[in-house]
Amino acid sequence: MTQARQHHIQVVAHRGASEDAPEHTLAAYMRAIEDGADALECDVRLTSDGHLVCVHDRRVNRTSNGRGAVSALELADLATLDFGTWKGREDATEVPDRTDPALTAVLTLERLLELVADSGRRIELAIETKHPTRWAGRVEERLVALLDRFGLAAPSSAGESTVRIMSFSARSLHRIAAAAPTVPTVYLMQFASPWLRDGRLPAGARIAGPGIRLVRNQPGLVDRLHRAGHQVHVWTVNEPEDVELCARLGVDAIITNRPRQVLSQLGRG
Ligand code: G3P
Ligand code: CA
Repeated sequence: MTQARQHHIQVVAHRGASEDAPEHTLAAYMRAIEDGADALECDVRLTSDGHLVCVHDRRVNRTSNGRGAVSALELADLATLDFGTWKGREDATEVPDRTDPALTAVLTLERLLELVADSGRRIELAIETKHPTRWAGRVEERLVALLDRFGLAAPSSAGESTVRIMSFSARSLHRIAAAAPTVPTVYLMQFASPWLRDGRLPAGARIAGPGIRLVRNQPGLVDRLHRAGHQVHVWTVNEPEDVELCARLGVDAIITNRPRQVLSQLGRG
């Protein structure tokens, strides 16, 4: 078992339990909830008719039996596609009910929010805006409106937020901060940059989201970010030695394709 620092490290299922089930499907998120994940990560994109759907790539080609850009397709087009079978080509043994279209259809963010609301326990959501700049604010507008409908655009009566918004785009986070100032924002970082030397983040960003490679290559980074008052959420942490490193450094959240294994390594499985 990894010797974690005393504080609780949140385990976030990246695209759901995406090692065991096809990413961004209901099957993957249900599996993550069963596995005991503290939070779920998902990427969101806008369809041509303005629906937020959980898809990582710009195109649906890799993760479905269809072709084309999400932004050029309507939700009804996406609903005809199978987002599960591709996974079976890599790993046929662990996919639960992958032939069940209800579990492997395109997942709207709205359906994911319903799943979380119906789960019966506290599960946080880390929602990443993908390529938001091309939409000139529409992604953030739709996102905040949807969160508002679910009562998630403001903290609960206990003052807690169960949803946070992540992005590689500082502009996207700035828009979120303006529209929903109490929703936590996570600035995703893949590469080192000069302003990180003193742990600073762009305006509108509250939490730091460095990639694991950056954390490995910059041993003092987590401390600097903590000293500057930011939580540190690291992605995508799948290897036991990286989980060990994150625990040693005292990160606040580990984003992983393997929530069950990480929970077990942290002594919570
Ligand atoms: O959680 C952040 C991480 O998901 C960013 O990378 O490409 O997997 O969306 P990507
Ligand atoms: Ca992501």
